[in-house]
Amino acid sequence: MKNFTYYNPVKIVFGKGAIDQLRTLAPASANLLLTYGGGSIKRNGVYDQVLAALQVKRVVEFGGIEPNPKYETLLEAVEVVKKEKIDFLLSVGGGSVLDGTKFIAAAAHFSGADPWEIITKHRRLQQAVPLGAVLTLPATGSEMNSFAVISRAATQEKLSFASSKIFPRFSILDPETTRSLDMRQTANGVVDAFAHVLEQYMTVPVNSPLQDRQAEAILLTLIQEGPRVMANPNDYDVRANIMWCACQALNGLIGCGVVQDWSTHAIGHELTAFYGLDHAQSLAVVFPALLRHQRERKAAKLLQYGERIFGITEGSEAQRIEQAVDRTERFFRSLGVGTRLADYGIQAQGLERIGRRIAERDGKIGEHQAIGQKEIDEILSAALYQDDDK
Ligand code: NZQ
Ligand code: ZN
Repeated sequence: MKNFTYYNPVKIVFGKGAIDQLRTLAPASANLLLTYGGGSIKRNGVYDQVLAALQVKRVVEFGGIEPNPKYETLLEAVEVVKKEKIDFLLSVGGGSVLDGTKFIAAAAHFSGADPWEIITKHRRLQQAVPLGAVLTLPATGSEMNSFAVISRAATQEKLSFASSKIFPRFSILDPETTRSLDMRQTANGVVDAFAHVLEQYMTVPVNSPLQDRQAEAILLTLIQEGPRVMANPNDYDVRANIMWCACQALNGLIGCGVVQDWSTHAIGHELTAFYGLDHAQSLAVVFPALLRHQRERKAAKLLQYGERIFGITEGSEAQRIEQAVDRTERFFRSLGVGTRLADYGIQAQGLERIGRRIAERDGKIGEHQAIGQKEIDEILSAALYQDDDK
């Protein structure tokens, strides 16, 4: 196992009625900015619950944060923070609202010329506005981590940053709030959480039996609960299990001391930046193709995964690996998430800009730094069509 430091200060308040605890969680003296997205919280009653519970000095609102939150919009919110002397941010919505709020928190205290440098130049944050979250979409794990992913419309970029200063002070996870999700966002959440586990698991063995089994527990639970939520979207217990899985999948714990990859996310972010795919759709496309491409480097973990997750024990190693990837791809498709670029109307032409941009920016990616422009081109070509619709 590799050396590691684990730090996570987020207070999680989980369960039915948890929003009521905003009463004591949000500081009474706060001049608070409530951030939200396109209005789902007004349609499903979450907004009313939040306003009824908040006992703070003053509430100002900023709505309109988009899925894949836009830098341009977030800068408008930073102006509100400065003008209204906001000293606490409350994100109410999905991962995009929360990531956007993390960026607002950082940018409001940024003293350089261009806050985009927080992301591109990895500027170390001295300070950020404290924030809390009411999460309404289980997927990203943003509620319990220190990452944020921001998109910039002007340059078609989608990039992440991390800082311990942007951990939420608290995150409220009431699974009731997720009942209003449509099937597409529900399935997206399962796929994103599954992909987060795979990025931290599907690399090389480092004698980490506990982390491996913690990761496998999340995968097995998602495979069990995913079809259940699609069949019974109103089942509270199923929604609750998925919400806790997504939170556990990216709060740092299963990643302790293991080798991680994250190249599927890097390629997926470019697919979203250039073509507008949902985050989870991009992962469902890239992951199977990337695992097939990297099957030799990832063989030991793919075999372990095949056996422990899908019970695959028969056949040659190559056959067992292909079965494991095929079962993964079929799981995503069974949730209604397309796993090929053709499912989203994307053709080969223009795809090469993805590999070119990643190679120019990051060099080679993956746990062996073995995925460069050529390999990304190959992965995306293999992800174009289902074999039988070629
Ligand atoms: O904007 P509103 O009206 O609120 O509607 C949203 C949005 O249209 C809707 N929604 C959210 N909760 C709902 C609901 N609709 C009905 N009922 C509810 N309870 O769902 C749509 C998608 O929301 P969004 O926040 O974009 O989804 P998600 O939570 O999947 O977040 C995706 C973003 O997070 C980033 C992604 O790249 C993407 O930008 N990620 C963040 C990570 C992190 N911070 O650690 C890690 C992830 O890998 C990911 O990259
Ligand atoms: Zn993700």
